Amino acid sequence: MKVLVVGGTGYIGSHAVLELLKDDHEVVVLDNLSTGRKTSILEKVTFYYGDITKKEDLFNVFLEECKKKPFDVVMHFASKLLVGESMSMPSEYYQNNVEGVRLLLDTMREFNIKNIIFSSTAAVYGNPINGVCYEEDLLKPINPYGETKLVCENMIKWYSKAYDMHYVIFRYFNVAGADSSLEIGYNYNKKVITHLIPIVAETILNIRDKFTVFGDDYNTEDGTCIRDYIHVSDLAHAHLLGAKYIWDGNDSTIINLGSNNGYSVKEIIEAALKCGDVNYVIGERRAGDPDVLIASNQRAKDILHFETKYNIDDIITSEVAYRKKLG
Ligand SMILES: NC(=O)c1ccc[n+]([C@@H]2O[C@H](COP(=O)([O-])OP(=O)(O)OC[C@H]3O[C@@H](n4cnc5c(N)ncnc54)[C@H](O)[C@@H]3O)[C@@H](O)[C@H]2O)c1
Repeated sequence: MKVLVVGGTGYIGSHAVLELLKDDHEVVVLDNLSTGRKTSILEKVTFYYGDITKKEDLFNVFLEECKKKPFDVVMHFASKLLVGESMSMPSEYYQNNVEGVRLLLDTMREFNIKNIIFSSTAAVYGNPINGVCYEEDLLKPINPYGETKLVCENMIKWYSKAYDMHYVIFRYFNVAGADSSLEIGYNYNKKVITHLIPIVAETILNIRDKFTVFGDDYNTEDGTCIRDYIHVSDLAHAHLLGAKYIWDGNDSTIINLGSNNGYSVKEIIEAALKCGDVNYVIGERRAGDPDVLIASNQRAKDILHFETKYNIDDIITSEVAYRKKLG
């Protein structure tokens, strides 16, 4: 396959690129390097610096590349994704996440490219009534980030009906860990780090003195929130399976990507103690955090025959190793 990966220098996108390269596919990356890194541009990749909210940038990549050989699949990772930031600057989120996808889809149409893999999120479920989320559950995002993803999901569905396009939409749960080469991983240079496992890794390595657990009075056994964690390499592998699935002409679909297991924050701390000390304090709850968020991964198993390879210990160990390597 020839695959265009937009946002391919970011955390998840670079792991998807690696997975495609390992399976001998041709990869073109378009990225504006807003949160991605040049060091994540892997050998054998054709890289274009550009922004998907700029029509001319998209047009240039499609024109240059499609005259050689059209893309078989486009993978989209190019989003803004901080929930808190989205609450204070929704306009930037709609512009980047929604307008970017609209222009991408329109450019695909112009060049007759039919297949898209889109990275959505568990945030589209909002505060789920049940802890375990199924793809057909009610979607009720509670922040602009989740809302922009839901708008994109719907836009992709309508485009697919009207213009005969095909899609796999993946809803990710909590993604963490790093590829075993430790060459690519989470971007620790971000303005704010909000993901639990990178924060725990930095605490183990004494880069942070301690971290704050947001609330221990949730409706769970130990009072801390329960989340579903998936290793980024497992997630990347699911993208390869998804790309092959859609390229083979199968029906468009929406699939959760998680492990079907929930861990409370205290259970994550317990697991992390195997790597070193973890100092923490209990703080106030954050607004809008549901008690439990776990993915049903039945559809991923049924449709893509997807199984996770890595467990929570692998996720934490690889995250700590990657952070340690960065120094
Ligand atoms: N990290 C998670 O736990 C998580 C969970 C659920 C969903 N997701 C989704 O996965 C995708 C990738 O997330 P990530 O963690 O790798 O984030 P990231 O910030 O590391 O990667 C995003 C990439 O897209 C690029 N980008 C952003 N806007 C762009 C634009 N307008 N034009 C061109 N490039 C642009 C950035 O430079 C970066 O390389 C996002 O769509 C996000 O919503 C992530």
